[in-house]
Amino acid sequence: MSPAFPLTRFRRLRATQALRDLVQETSVTLNDLIYPIFVEEGLDDPAPVDSMPGIFRIPERKLAATVKEIAAAGIRALMLFGVSHHKDADGSDSWNPNGLMARMIRRAKDAAPGLVVISDTCFCEYTSHGHCGVIAHGDVHNDHTIENLGRQAVVAAKAGADMIAPSSMMDGQVTAIRRALDGDGFETTPIMAYSSKFASAFYGPFRAAAGCDLEGDRKAYQVNPLNGREALRESLSDEAEGADILMVKPGMPYLDVLARVRQQTLLPIAAYQVSGEYAMIKFAAQAGAIDEARVVRESLGAFKRAGADLILTYFAMDIARQGF
Ligand code: PBG
Repeated sequence: MSPAFPLTRFRRLRATQALRDLVQETSVTLNDLIYPIFVEEGLDDPAPVDSMPGIFRIPERKLAATVKEIAAAGIRALMLFGVSHHKDADGSDSWNPNGLMARMIRRAKDAAPGLVVISDTCFCEYTSHGHCGVIAHGDVHNDHTIENLGRQAVVAAKAGADMIAPSSMMDGQVTAIRRALDGDGFETTPIMAYSSKFASAFYGPFRAAAGCDLEGDRKAYQVNPLNGREALRESLSDEAEGADILMVKPGMPYLDVLARVRQQTLLPIAAYQVSGEYAMIKFAAQAGAIDEARVVRESLGAFKRAGADLILTYFAMDIARQGF
């Protein structure tokens, strides 16, 4: 045998499916997935989102039936986004105890009490200008906005939300929400902070889906997509503020950030495979360029490999129906 002959042969453990399964390092199950849904008030029939094939805005009046189907399919957790017909400058419908956000949480919990119902805690779906907070002097006013986030979080918790997910990227949002929740007796309600959330073009289809007509952009509050260290600082700062789960968003283009956050924290980490990532896979599959099921499996597995514990994905329902 020549000395150059390989002693190490990776193919030994790749020979059969059973061997491959034995040494597989990560796996994804329905237990790990959170399904984001869009709920619109004043709508009669589900409205397809053209840029997200297979995704519909669910009419509020059909929410209970839809949530029952979702739970019956095996989904364990939902993230709720409201499509509001009652927008104003501050997004006040979002902290009205009878507003869309509170109503959809109550309906979802009534329909399937065992589902983990997570409330996206932000204002952009409820503001007339589409920004994630109160505008003052042409800018989103940080400290007024976090006060309103606290109010909204308490209304969500009172409506039955199992988890609060602040996504407005205001400084101090986790502390403000933690104090507000604790002050109202919700000290056991966890916070999943959108902490490494980038000012990303991959949110394009979401803005259409959520009926969010944004004036301008979110660069003054979301992280610059070219900054990794800064995102890490913000995630660690959210941990210090008391966040229970840290999120990295978008997912696939930010696996490096996910892996770095994983090395720096012991908290659970969530990866959000956003609307643009979903659209890319769906449209490429429709064009016959890729095998959708395999690409979905591979992309979710990549989040696990990079260090995510939870995954938010619009593919959750397809997976629940078809299996992995
Ligand atoms: C609200 C919010 C957004 C998304 C989730 N929560 C939009 C944004 O920040 O512009 C995007 C989700 C997606 O694209 O799937 N702040």
